Amino acid sequence: MPLRSCKKQVWKARIQVALFGLLGVGLALASEPGEKLALQVCSACHVVAATQQEPPILNHVTPSFCAIANRPETTLKSVSQFVLHTHWDENSVRITMPDPMLMPDQAAQVARYVLSLRGRCQF
Ligand code: HEC
Repeated sequence: MPLRSCKKQVWKARIQVALFGLLGVGLALASEPGEKLALQVCSACHVVAATQQEPPILNHVTPSFCAIANRPETTLKSVSQFVLHTHWDENSVRITMPDPMLMPDQAAQVARYVLSLRGRCQF
C-alpha cells in the first residue's frame, strides 16, 4: 500500500476511535448515575455493563453485575449493605472485596443500577 493511503487509513481508524469514545461518553451521560459510578468504581474488578471498554484487571473471578442482578436473593438492600460493609484487607487470606468507600447514597445508586439490569442484561 502506498504510504499516503496508509496514513489515510490510520486517520480513519483514529476518527473511528474518537467517535466511539464520544458515543461511550454519550451513553454514560444518558444512563443511570449508578451506572457511571459502577464504571468508575467497580469495573476494575467486575464486569459492570455490556458497554464496559476494559475487562476487569483483577485476576480473580468476580460475579458480573448481570449475574448479581439475576440472582433471586439480590435486593437493593443486599447490594448496598454488601458494598457498605465489605472490608477485605491484605491480611485476610481469602480474597474478598475491599471497601469501595462509597457514601450510603452512592451505594444506593449503584444498587439501583445493579437491580435495573435484572432480566435485561447479557454479560
Ligand atoms: C478491588 C476489587 C473490587 C472492586 C473495586 C469491587 N469489587 Fe465487588 N467483589 C470483589 C470480589 C473479589 C468479590 C467476591 C467476594 C467474595 O467472594 O466474597 C466481590 C463481590 C461483590 C458482590 C457480592 C457478590 C456475591 O457473590 O454475593 C457485590 C454485590 C459486589 N461485589 C458489588 C460491587 C460494587 C457495587 C462495586 C463498586 C462500588 C464493587 N463490587 C467493586 C472485588 C471488587
